[in-house]
Amino acid sequence: MDVTREHAWETLTRYTKSESLLRHALAVEAATRFYARKGGEDEQLWSAVALLHDFDYELHPTLDKHPQDGAPILREEGWPEEVIEAVLSHAEHLGMPRDTPLKRTLFACDELSGFVHACGLVRPIGLEGLEPKSVRKKLKQPSFAAGVHREEVFQGAELLGLDLDEHIANVVAALQPIAAELGLRTAADL
Ligand SMILES: [Fe+2]
Ligand SMILES: [Fe+2]
Repeated sequence: MDVTREHAWETLTRYTKSESLLRHALAVEAATRFYARKGGEDEQLWSAVALLHDFDYELHPTLDKHPQDGAPILREEGWPEEVIEAVLSHAEHLGMPRDTPLKRTLFACDELSGFVHACGLVRPIGLEGLEPKSVRKKLKQPSFAAGVHREEVFQGAELLGLDLDEHIANVVAALQPIAAELGLRTAADL
C-alpha cells in the first residue's frame, strides 16, 4: 500500500464516523504537516500518521485498548510498520520512545491542536488574530477544554525544542487554512 494521505483518509473514515473525531484528525494532520513542510520531511507519510493516530478511537475508546488494539487492524489494512509504530508512539501509557522527528511532532501536535481548535470555537472570528498569549492564558484555566492535558502541551513544545509561543503560533497558522472544515467561523462569516 502506498503511504498517502488519501489512503489514510480511506482507512480513517472506514472506522471513524464521528464528526468531532474526524475534525480532531484533520487538525492534528494540518499541524503535523505544517512541520513536515517546514523541515523538508515526507508530507504524505506525516499526514497519513497524523490522520491515523486515533483511527480506532470509536472502536476502542478506552486506554486499555486504544491505540494498541488498533495496530493489528492497521497491519491487516496493509500499513507499513513505520506508520504503525509512529501511531502507537502518541500514547503516553505505552511509553514508547519518541525517537524520530515524526513521533515528536505527532505528540507535540496532538493535544495542542485540540486546544487551539477549542480556542477558535469560542471566538466570533475563529482563529483570526488569535495570539499565543491568549492561548497561554486559556491554558491556565483548568475548566476550559478540560480534556486537554496541559503537561503534554508543555512537554510537546519542549520535545520540538521550541518556545511554547512559537509552537502555538505555528499550530494556529496551520489550522487557519482548514478553519471551515473544522467548523470554525472566519471574518468572512461576519
Ligand atoms: Fe489517541
Ligand atoms: Fe489525538
